[in-house]
Amino acid sequence: MTAVTARVPAKVNLQLSVGPRRSDGYHDLVTVFHALALFDEVTVSPADTDSVVVTGEGADRVPLDADNLAARAVAALVEAVGPGVRDSPGVAIEIRKRIPVAAGLAGGSADAAAALVACNELWGAGLSPQELAEVAGQVGSDVGFALFGGTAIGLGRGDQVTPVLATGTYHWVLAFAAEVLSTPAVYAACDRLREAQATSPDASGAAAVAGVPGSVGTSAAGAAGASGPPQLNTRLMAALRSGDPAELGPLLSNDLQPAAISLLPRLRQALAAGQEHGALGAIVSGSGPTCAYLARDGKHARDLAVALTGTGVCRSVVTVTGPAPGATVIGVTADGRPVSRP
Ligand code: C5P
Repeated sequence: MTAVTARVPAKVNLQLSVGPRRSDGYHDLVTVFHALALFDEVTVSPADTDSVVVTGEGADRVPLDADNLAARAVAALVEAVGPGVRDSPGVAIEIRKRIPVAAGLAGGSADAAAALVACNELWGAGLSPQELAEVAGQVGSDVGFALFGGTAIGLGRGDQVTPVLATGTYHWVLAFAAEVLSTPAVYAACDRLREAQATSPDASGAAAVAGVPGSVGTSAAGAAGASGPPQLNTRLMAALRSGDPAELGPLLSNDLQPAAISLLPRLRQALAAGQEHGALGAIVSGSGPTCAYLARDGKHARDLAVALTGTGVCRSVVTVTGPAPGATVIGVTADGRPVSRP
């Protein structure tokens, strides 16, 4: 085999409930991941030395050294299986990006997941999905979900993934921002807002400090400053079983949203613009700054995308559907020629 290519989706969190900061710096989550049909592609091939090449959306922002998440995933796989698994001294990793970088869509984690499934195939390592998920958890909190795709509950750091029963196809609009947000910085801002709220004499403290709408798009645990452990929203689960976007829209929640808005106040206008144009739900995706809007159907999504483009509240807008499949091998070549698998 001379090259294997895998395709991998972006994600949005339909629920992102964040518990208090743990002693290891992470936060326990209760989240509902939803994979979106916006894909990166990763090709791996045997080489004399390790290398990473990145092209496409935001490529200049992606590290090319050992910090690259796809490179870290390859290293973690070698560590898990043993150095004998590679049949060459190095691996050339080529990443073609359509998922924006540092945008709250888990693009880096997606590339890591694609590298895992591609190398598993390239080397014939034969790791099961569960074994790959264990390696994924060592690379990053969102990498495991990118392997599975679909719609799934994430617990722990987000790395303990269980698929959920969901029906139907949802139509989304994604508004990309000109700016980026660092995930650790957004979690730190969330901690600061909660501390300010806990020490504030009145309950509106955090909103006043952040200058953000109080509980809009925020779960009960988040609005209350994470007073108890985060809980799965059972009404959201019921809405996913019904497949009705009108039920799902008002139930979307993200505890990181006030923190993202506190760092990038313009996001408030971007969310409001979606609501004004009839979005069933409008939410910051993960740690942001991408905003995700749920539409009634494909036509509504296209109309919403046009309207949002006209408002100038974002850099660019795309329409996507969800759920999408997780990291999948889409091409295998041997001696430069395509092999009929998969
Ligand atoms: O796991 P990953 O490397 O993707 O996480 C990036 C950063 O996001 C962590 O270093 C941490 O600051 C924050 N994070 C967190 N709690 C989580 C997941 C991520 O605090 N459950």
